[in-house]
Amino acid sequence: MTKTVLVTGGTSGMGKAMALTLKKAGWNVVVTGRDADRLHQMDIALQEIQGEHAVIQMDVRDPEACMAAVNQTRHRFGRLEALINNAAGNFICPTDELSPNGWKTVIDIVLNGTFNCSHALVKGWQEDGVSGGQILNIVASYAWQAGPGVAPSAAAKAGVLNLTRTLAVEWGYKYQARINAISPGPIERTGGADKLAMSPEHAERIRRNVPLGRFGTPEEIADLATWMLSDQARYLNGECIALDGGHWLNKQPF
Ligand code: HXC
Repeated sequence: MTKTVLVTGGTSGMGKAMALTLKKAGWNVVVTGRDADRLHQMDIALQEIQGEHAVIQMDVRDPEACMAAVNQTRHRFGRLEALINNAAGNFICPTDELSPNGWKTVIDIVLNGTFNCSHALVKGWQEDGVSGGQILNIVASYAWQAGPGVAPSAAAKAGVLNLTRTLAVEWGYKYQARINAISPGPIERTGGADKLAMSPEHAERIRRNVPLGRFGTPEEIADLATWMLSDQARYLNGECIALDGGHWLNKQPF
């Protein structure tokens, strides 16, 4: 039976690439996002690919909207096996200048949004008796390093990485589920690259810090995600794979 995956923040960047690639790989694909126009564009792009898909407007910060999206998906496709928690929010701001609401906004999208969607998903698994479902979380290397200038995102991603490992154990035992994460490095054509590489000179500095000498592509992230959700990765659980050309390992000590 065709399996169904829901991709949050799936109208641009890595989310869009993952949704398109997974549909090509034979998944039913559900894309969520906040912007109606971008969802419409994504709907048109997905129509070019054989198979079934849906787009749903929602904000991951709203637990009821997450539950409604999961239920709408289950109603349409019978059940929902997999979730990619890709939706993110971020901006560069020195922490001593950050407002409490700025902190809360990013934590709400990244950490609480990941919980909201994962929690809604597991309620669906319980009702439908899904065993062997999956969650894929998108983090960043500052989840385990420092994130100067992006403290809320770094703290939230650290929380998501821990949640990945915690649920891998809890829901591995309980639902035979596999919960994993990808830590993308600098990836071109993404909101992260747009926000974090502030000028061409800055982007060039980042590029030089990647041992492989280039930014990654959303399609490379999508290929890894497709493999991680496939049966070829059936013993992979609680793992975080850095896809970054060796970027996070490069401390340039000499
Ligand atoms: C300081 C800022 C700010 C900035 C917003 N705020 N931008 N503070 N510097 N540049 C503050 C606002 O002043 C406000 O606080 C609070 O944050 C909420 O702002 P809103 O604009 O009302 O929030 P909202 O419309 O919900 O937008 C959320 C957002 C936005 C995160 C601010 O940028 C967004 O929706 N982004 C989604 C796309 C995205 O960011 N993608 C990149 C992900 S990159 P006050 O106190 O004024 O009310 C990523 C990691 C990449 O995740 C890692 C690569 C290695």
